[in-house]
Amino acid sequence: MQEAGNAPHNSTAAIATENLTRRFGDLVAVQDVNLRVSPGQFFGFLGPNGAGKSTTIKMLTGLLAPTSGRIEILGLDFERQVVDVKRQIGVVPEGLALFGRLTGAEYLTFVGRMYGLDRDTCARRATELLEFMQLADQPHKLVTDYSHGMQKKLALAAAVIHGPKILFLDEPFEGVDAIAAGTLKSMLQRMIARGATIFLTSHVLEIVERLCSHVAIIHRGQLVAQGSLEELRAGVEAQSAAQAEALPSTGKLTLEEIFLHTVGGTRSAEQELSWLG
Ligand SMILES: Nc1ncnc2c1ncn2[C@@H]1O[C@H](COP(=O)(O)OP(=O)(O)O)[C@@H](O)[C@H]1O
Ligand SMILES: [Mg+2]
Repeated sequence: MQEAGNAPHNSTAAIATENLTRRFGDLVAVQDVNLRVSPGQFFGFLGPNGAGKSTTIKMLTGLLAPTSGRIEILGLDFERQVVDVKRQIGVVPEGLALFGRLTGAEYLTFVGRMYGLDRDTCARRATELLEFMQLADQPHKLVTDYSHGMQKKLALAAAVIHGPKILFLDEPFEGVDAIAAGTLKSMLQRMIARGATIFLTSHVLEIVERLCSHVAIIHRGQLVAQGSLEELRAGVEAQSAAQAEALPSTGKLTLEEIFLHTVGGTRSAEQELSWLG
């Protein structure tokens, strides 16, 4: 999969945006974002709270219209070929919108049928997915009675039942316990191994560092960095060397160090709250 992740620049991108912009009144939540994600990449979209991650992922999945700019998914124009695009993507959005009065199996079957899968395929995949997500031991439990972590696992199962080529996840590990997080991660790694592309947002650096091969950092609506982890690291190291700045001498830069260096000044909230300390 590394090869797919390093595909030449002129091959069709899994996700490409051109000056993607979204305003809410006077606020420019996302400004002129040019993203490029190659097929097979495990891509982390990182930024502090309020940076514009959810707004971006909503536009990339058709949940929110851009104010201006363009989106291409697997070479398809999002606006003109929206039905074709939606067939190839799966989404776990910020607010999970699950139907409560169904069991997990009923819910997955319903979603599968919406994608046009036949009954047998739906039933088979629903069973496999519930097993994999460790949701199969209480088959009569209604989704409304699921815990938050269970709902996240079910939402991921629903997002992949039609075999999407690209998976979009908004903060997939938020409020999820370690065991459920482990299950989610192994599902994502399995998808990457099969050649899917994953685009996930997170404000948690460790998650992105552990899972993702490629990263973009958004800050106040603007992209401030984009590339492989190694490229970002090399960029910060080169910049620091040029400014004769001391970097931590022990080993490689962590993503946290790269992030703080790139975004700089995000420490201000901490400083303002120094009286707490
Ligand atoms: N529907 C909305 N109406 C007004 N402002 C919004 C709306 N959605 C998001 N915003 C604002 O846009 C900015 C980016 O939000 P968001 O994309 O949710 O950030 P993130 O997901 O990175 O935490 C924030 O300032 C947020 O308050
Ligand atoms: Mg968000």
